[in-house]
Amino acid sequence: MADKPTLPTPENTQPANGDSAVGRRTFVKAAGAATAAAAALSSHGPFVRKAKGAETKLRYGWVGPGSRGFRLLQRHAQHIDIGECVAICDIYEPNLQQAIELFGGKPTGYTDYRKLLEDPNVDAVFVTVPLFVHYEVTKAALEAGKHVFCEKSLVFTPAEVHGLRAVHEANPNLVIQVGLQRRYSQFYQAAKKLIDDGAIGKVTHIQAQWHRNTSWRRQATPEMEDQINWRLYRRYSGGLCAELMSHQVDVADWFIGAYPTSVTGVGGIDYWKDGRDIYDNIQLIFEYPGGEKLQYSSITTNRHIQGRRVPGDGCREVILGTDGAIEITLIPYGEGMRFRDPMKEKMGADTGGGETWKAGATVGTDTLEQGEGVPLVPNLRDLNGDGVGFIEKEFEFAKRWMYNKGIMSPSEEKDPEYVELESFMRDVLDGGRPRSDVEVGLQDSIAVMLANLSMDEQRKVYFSEIEQMGKDGEMTRAAGAEKADN
Ligand SMILES: NC(=O)c1ccc[n+]([C@@H]2O[C@H](COP(=O)([O-])OP(=O)(O)OC[C@H]3O[C@@H](n4cnc5c(N)ncnc54)[C@H](O)[C@@H]3O)[C@@H](O)[C@H]2O)c1
Repeated sequence: MADKPTLPTPENTQPANGDSAVGRRTFVKAAGAATAAAAALSSHGPFVRKAKGAETKLRYGWVGPGSRGFRLLQRHAQHIDIGECVAICDIYEPNLQQAIELFGGKPTGYTDYRKLLEDPNVDAVFVTVPLFVHYEVTKAALEAGKHVFCEKSLVFTPAEVHGLRAVHEANPNLVIQVGLQRRYSQFYQAAKKLIDDGAIGKVTHIQAQWHRNTSWRRQATPEMEDQINWRLYRRYSGGLCAELMSHQVDVADWFIGAYPTSVTGVGGIDYWKDGRDIYDNIQLIFEYPGGEKLQYSSITTNRHIQGRRVPGDGCREVILGTDGAIEITLIPYGEGMRFRDPMKEKMGADTGGGETWKAGATVGTDTLEQGEGVPLVPNLRDLNGDGVGFIEKEFEFAKRWMYNKGIMSPSEEKDPEYVELESFMRDVLDGGRPRSDVEVGLQDSIAVMLANLSMDEQRKVYFSEIEQMGKDGEMTRAAGAEKADN
């Protein structure tokens, strides 16, 4: 077997293969194929496959096995026994071949996704192409009657928001899932349950950050620059908002139980002045209908995170409630802590002027101490439930004691990425509804677009504005994008 081709990953220090048969021209041309693809496929008309028995395998195709796609295939999809990869498509030959070889050469290879969609063996499609190609592949797949798993963020422009909603309404029985894997994490689900049960009181604020110390640039020859470094350019990418913030604004939406009403932000290209035109640092505030705020930060010059000494990114969400807080992250591995708020307990519930209130400097230092964190244990069993034996109960108590003493860290039973893929396959086979469904994905994409618009136009943008955007068929990112592009 020949040497494995080099995948263009950020970690990869090898120059990308510049002599590929597929160059930038093809890349950009492929992006413009939306209309043609839709026209070619619309004659098939929507059709709905009947839900199959759990023993039936889902036969799926994969479009765009690049850095993300290959990771999902290699680490997870190939090990999921209710699915079978029957077709793979990529415009970049080395990536296509590497993915096909992963399955011993069995899947049919395509360089045009429209051909893959015509393949009658394909029931569902995984879409892991760059953001600006998500919509055309997803739309064409749905119109060809295929269920779709598409990476976040789901769509790129306001016109695509309206367009995908329409395609979904015309094909309501086809499953659409978006790659927001936190929704499939036991930690995040445990946090959501605690919040809904009132464990930290009323959630009023969320602080989220994704801080890195890296340029995000992948090595590429000049002719492959756009194809390899698409993330750095507005014509293909939503920048930090799309690539990182999308995960965390989704967590805020989920935990608060609503979508934002407005966003205000400041962004700049202040350090990595290397020709990119996406912001290299962003600071945003989202407002929610109940007055809740999400304060968001993503930078590329320092990954420090207070109180955390683990490898990986400075990435986490802090959920602040009136009775306590939850700190949670999925990077580099799931971790969640709950803190009570002793200040509130010491000062009394009524801090609006009651007897216990002391202002400013008169607040003693003892009231300022922060409670010890308690790990979130995602898979706690109901120990009083029937069928829990004595030994099992003792073991569970011991485990909880060790978590609380910090002797043992709780871990997820399965990687949320594995769970999201398996869950999609299961939902297609059994007719279920994904946790990160099309509406979750569209709202998430709207937050990305409007956050960028707010920074571009230096103003507060209301989420209701999306309804007026993109209706004339324009496919640019949002009104205001032209200004910033110049
Ligand atoms: N959920 C997550 O945590 C997560 C993490 C990383 C990336 N992603 C998302 O995954 C997507 C891909 O990111 P990536 O880093 O893998 O990008 P990438 O550039 O490494 O891979 C994209 C692949 O798509 C192929 N491609 C491009 N246009 C195509 C077309 N028209 N038809 C077929 N193949 C085409 C490219 O050749 C490449 O192999 C992005 O939307 C990104 O936001 C999600």
